[in-house]
Order: sequence, then structure tokens, then C-alpha cells
Amino acid sequence: MELKKDIWHYPRTELAQKYVETMNIGLSNTLALFAPRRMGKTEFLRRDLTPAAEKAGYGVIYVSLWEVRKDPGRALINEIEAHEQSLLTRAIRKIQKGPKITVGGGFAGAHASMTIGGEGDNLSSQDVVDLGQSLRRLAEGRRKVLLLIDEVQTLADDAHYGELVAALRSALNRHGDRVKAIFTGSSQEGLRLMFNREKAPLYQFGQQLSFPVMGEGFVQHLLNTYSKITQKTLDFERAWQTFVALERVPLYFRSLLENMILTDTEDMELALQAIRGEMEQSANYQEKWEQLRPMDRAVLLQINRPAKVYSEANRLEIDRFLGVPAGTTKIPGIQQAIKRLSHQGIITREGGQGVYGIEDPMFAAWVQKIAENKEKK
Ligand SMILES: Nc1ncnc2c1ncn2[C@@H]1O[C@H](COP(=O)(O)OP(=O)(O)OP(=O)(O)O)[C@@H](O)[C@H]1O
Ligand SMILES: [Mg+2]
Repeated sequence: MELKKDIWHYPRTELAQKYVETMNIGLSNTLALFAPRRMGKTEFLRRDLTPAAEKAGYGVIYVSLWEVRKDPGRALINEIEAHEQSLLTRAIRKIQKGPKITVGGGFAGAHASMTIGGEGDNLSSQDVVDLGQSLRRLAEGRRKVLLLIDEVQTLADDAHYGELVAALRSALNRHGDRVKAIFTGSSQEGLRLMFNREKAPLYQFGQQLSFPVMGEGFVQHLLNTYSKITQKTLDFERAWQTFVALERVPLYFRSLLENMILTDTEDMELALQAIRGEMEQSANYQEKWEQLRPMDRAVLLQINRPAKVYSEANRLEIDRFLGVPAGTTKIPGIQQAIKRLSHQGIITREGGQGVYGIEDPMFAAWVQKIAENKEKK
């Protein structure tokens, strides 16, 4: 699918190149990219990585599992089939035009036997077989294939998808030289469940990379676009600080500049306030906060601190927050809260034991503000 050109898009060509090379060398046939929400993963896959991989000779298949979470197995198979079909029609067209081209018997012959459709919540064993076969046919094709699997955390639920993921893994293992895969997802917790638990189906499968946050080039590119549209120049330093204040989330910075154009203002400070208000409102942080149990809120307030969340000092803080006698909060109580918050995807483990972080950077900043206000009182 061709994407419309977007003048705001900041191309990350070198990064895309790096990933393609990593796979070309065979250093790793599967990559998993980690990054929080709205950091530009999908845009990178579609606008930077896809063209780079195609240039390097790959047929690229993109599947976003979130949109098809009711039946991700089928969706994967369908996308692969659509890809095969387009290869097939292209090959046939070439044959009709003259020069002799042999269609790889693999996908040509087998296609007829494929079942299409079949909506349902549960993956049938037929699906698992189909997926294996689809991948095998891909591997037999003339071009190497790159599978881009977005929102892979959708598959973190073992009970439902364990079998599918296992099938995917074994097929990728078998055909890794011809079929490469890049997984991306936004839930750190989901990815951890999938790749880092010892019993997880993708345990230690492929190479995990943290997707780099946008740097100065991004800000400069967006400022240039702003200038092209408005014929005005904004100060880079000011813009950079604003981007940092927005937790370096590309979506927010871009919205900020778009708002400035729409409202015809050059006051970045004002625009920053406005966008923050908008973000908080649309994300409904206040409501999210109020729906949490007091204990969970108390734990969240401690989580941004460098010390381990279970430390005695933190437990005393939690006692104070809850208004209970010092020494009331015990470690198991905190563990329960951590479990609840992780399950909801609000926090995620960061590195070592007992070190956690809030997954949504804007929510983290919001909680931080509350914590600071409490200290001032
Ligand atoms: N390279 C870029 N250049 C300009 N804007 C970008 C770029 N990458 C992302 N953005 C902006 O950020 C928005 C969010 O990006 P994207 O949807 O790719 O994030 P994501 O990490 O996939 O988020 P999610 O985890 O929610 O799926 C885009 O719609 C776009 O406005
Ligand atoms: Mg995305």
C-alpha cells in the first residue's frame, strides 16, 4: 500500500538502514523493538523501514495485530496470502508480457487449498497449520520476505495465543534465512511477558532493541516544515526545550506546531500549556487517578524515585500518604499493588528487581507533578 507523502514526516533513514543490515548479515533474523506509546514506531515501520527493506530486495508484509485482536492468527495468514497473491499476479503479468519466468511452484500451487475468512475468537489447529504452510511458501518464494508485526503485545495472552506464537516461532526459526521478522509493541509489560519470562513462547527469541527516542534532527525537521508553511522561523533552543517538556513524544510536538499554525501564534510557551491541557484531558489522567485504589496511588507516587519501591523509607512515605501509623505498610501489600498496576499496563519493570517506571511518559510527568505538590505542602 502506497502512503501519501507527509511533509511533517522526519525520515529516519539511517536507523532503517541499520536494522536492514542487521538482518542481512544474518546477525539476527528477528528483532523486537521496544518503545512506549506514541513514540513513532508505526510511522517508522511504514514510512522508513518498509521502503528501506524493499530497496534491499525484501517483500514486506505489515500486520498490525491490535486492529485484528479478535483473530490475529487469521489476520496474519490473510496478509501473507494477500502478499503471495500480489506476487503471483505480478509474475503472471510478466509471463503474459513475454519473457519466461517460472513461478515458484510453492505459492502458485498451494494457494488453491487455502481457506480464506473464518472469523472466530479461537484459533483452530487448522490456523496453526495454515500459518506454518504460509510461512513455508514465503520462504520458497523468489524474494526474501520481511514480516513487520506491529502491536505484538496483543499476543501476550498465552492461554489464547500461546499455540499461535509457538507456531510462528518455530516457522521463523526454520526459515529465518529467507523470512525475517520485526516485532514492535507499545506495552513494555506485554513485551516483557512475551520475551523475558522463562516460560514465555518467545523467550530469548531474536534480538531486543530499545527503539531510540527522537533527537535534535526531528525537532529541526519539524521546525523547517513549520517555516515552509508559515515563512516564519522559530528558535531552535526554545523548541528543543519544549520537546523535552513534552517528554520527547513526537506526536505532541507535532500537534503543538500544527496548533501554532492554526491559531496563528508564535508563542511556544502558550502553545505548550495548551497542548498539555489538551493531552491531560484527552488522556483523562485525573479520572484514571481517582479510579485507582489509595494503595496503588501511594505506590505510584513512590515509583518515580530512584530508591527501590519496597525500601523502608518508601514504605514510611506510603504510610504517611494513606494516613496510617508508621510501619503499617508491609512489603506484600506493595507487591500486590505492583501486580495490579502491571496488569493494567500502568507500570513496567525497569532493569533490576524492585525498580519500576510508569509506562506512559505523560502520565509519569502528571504523577510527578502531584508528588511535588505534596512535598511542597
Ligand atoms: N518520523 C516522524 N516524523 C514526524 N512525525 C512523527 C514521526 N513519527 C511519529 N510522528 C508523529 O507521532 C505520531 C505517533 O506515531 P506512531 O503512531 O508511529 O507511534 P507508535 O509508537 O506506533 O504509537 P502506538 O504505540 O500508540 O501505536 C504520528 O501520528 C505522528 O504525528
Ligand atoms: Mg503504533
